Amino acid sequence: MSEVKTASSRRPLRIAIFGFGTVGSSVARILTESKPEQLELTHVFNRNVARKKADWVPGSVTWSEDAGAVLASDAEVIVELAGGLDPAGAWVRKALASGKSVVTANKKLIAFHGVELERLAAANGGHLKYGAAVAGGIPVIPGIEHGLAGDRIERMEGILNGTCNFILSRMEEGAEYADVLKDAQARGYAEADPTEDVGGFDARAKLAILMRLALRAEVDPGQIVPKAITEVAAIDFSYARELGCTIRQIARAGRQIARAGKTNGALAASVGPALVGLRSPLSWSRGTENMVVLTGKYGGDVVFSGHGAGGHPTAVAVVSDLVALASGSKRVEIPAEKAEIGAEFEVPHYIRFLVKDRPGIVAEITAALAREQINIRAIAQKAGYPANALPFVVTVEPCKASALQRALAGIRRLDCMIAPPLDLQMLE
Ligand SMILES: NC(=O)c1ccc[n+]([C@@H]2O[C@H](COP(=O)([O-])OP(=O)(O)OC[C@H]3O[C@@H](n4cnc5c(N)ncnc54)[C@H](OP(=O)(O)O)[C@@H]3O)[C@@H](O)[C@H]2O)c1
Repeated sequence: MSEVKTASSRRPLRIAIFGFGTVGSSVARILTESKPEQLELTHVFNRNVARKKADWVPGSVTWSEDAGAVLASDAEVIVELAGGLDPAGAWVRKALASGKSVVTANKKLIAFHGVELERLAAANGGHLKYGAAVAGGIPVIPGIEHGLAGDRIERMEGILNGTCNFILSRMEEGAEYADVLKDAQARGYAEADPTEDVGGFDARAKLAILMRLALRAEVDPGQIVPKAITEVAAIDFSYARELGCTIRQIARAGRQIARAGKTNGALAASVGPALVGLRSPLSWSRGTENMVVLTGKYGGDVVFSGHGAGGHPTAVAVVSDLVALASGSKRVEIPAEKAEIGAEFEVPHYIRFLVKDRPGIVAEITAALAREQINIRAIAQKAGYPANALPFVVTVEPCKASALQRALAGIRRLDCMIAPPLDLQMLE
């Protein structure tokens, strides 16, 4: 079992980086340039490592393509920056089982296996830190673990995926989805297969991590069904503007008010594009920025914002975790209970229809909504569209998404519908 040295120890903490890519090389850069005295980079592991060697990395560093050898070395902390569940998960388990500590930015691994890995770390005297796994360089995880540990956080709303925020904030300025996606791919903000980001899976993993820390609820991320941003069109931004809103990918979770005698109310969580008011801070984040708003029972709203991704910002979070480890700073133990997503948000919705016009459409939609006890708030139709492909918008009073889905299932079958209706939560 290795003992994590503290600042008062003479020898600096020996660090091995696994994965010398965007974040891994930025971590090495910070360790090399700013030379935190309590940290020493000793190993870099990567496949085909020869092509990775950089002349600015100190000559004392061992470059290796043998993961087993580095795990068996005298490095005390493994910094896992390869990503994915495997083989990264196997390296992390092996390191923790041998008493080493691990710092990672791997949200997928932490969302699905974080609890098990934390137990493994505790059982073997090591530590697991993952401050970079949510919102990159924004210290939202340390903020919850330390700065907000004294509050009882009741709900959170966040923009947790920079790629979606880049796409949606550019669409707000008039660009089309396909063009912005291409631009995001050219700039390295989006993968060749963007599903993980635009489908909401990346934000869902991050939301599950935040739910464990902030709401103290250990949920299976698979229980949260994300909604993709791909169906949002330019016209939705112009209707949103008329409603005093814009559109952002929002990951949100909260507890319903607890019933008498129960300590915890039922949990609701969702990920998907939503209308946010132009006066909400969530509408102010542009480009690849991230933002998290946490609402505490005692402290009220706290807003975190900044660069949610990128090599250097993410590396700052990783190095901060390393400095904390070297200083002997322990994670604040935040107890969490296994939990199910057992509730839905009751919020107003925006529904955009695309129809072949004929008399009676609004009456049929109204009737279908009324059967589910859903009240219409407003109807808006912009001029200048052809009658054979006419878009219009209905907003409804707060209702459960499941009731709205039942109503929309019937509405979708109307002969006039030429595309499935798009429904978005409206955050108020
Ligand atoms: N980039 C960001 O802005 C950001 C933000 C927050 C969190 N993260 C997280 O940080 C982690 C790293 O992301 P990144 O953007 O730095 O990724 P990246 O640029 O793709 O770097 C990953 C590195 O790991 C190496 N690698 C991957 N699989 C390997 C394997 N099986 N064996 C040996 N080496 C392997 C890759 O080598 P090759 O060059 O051979 O592929 C590459 O050098 C991920 O968990 C990611 O989710 C990234």
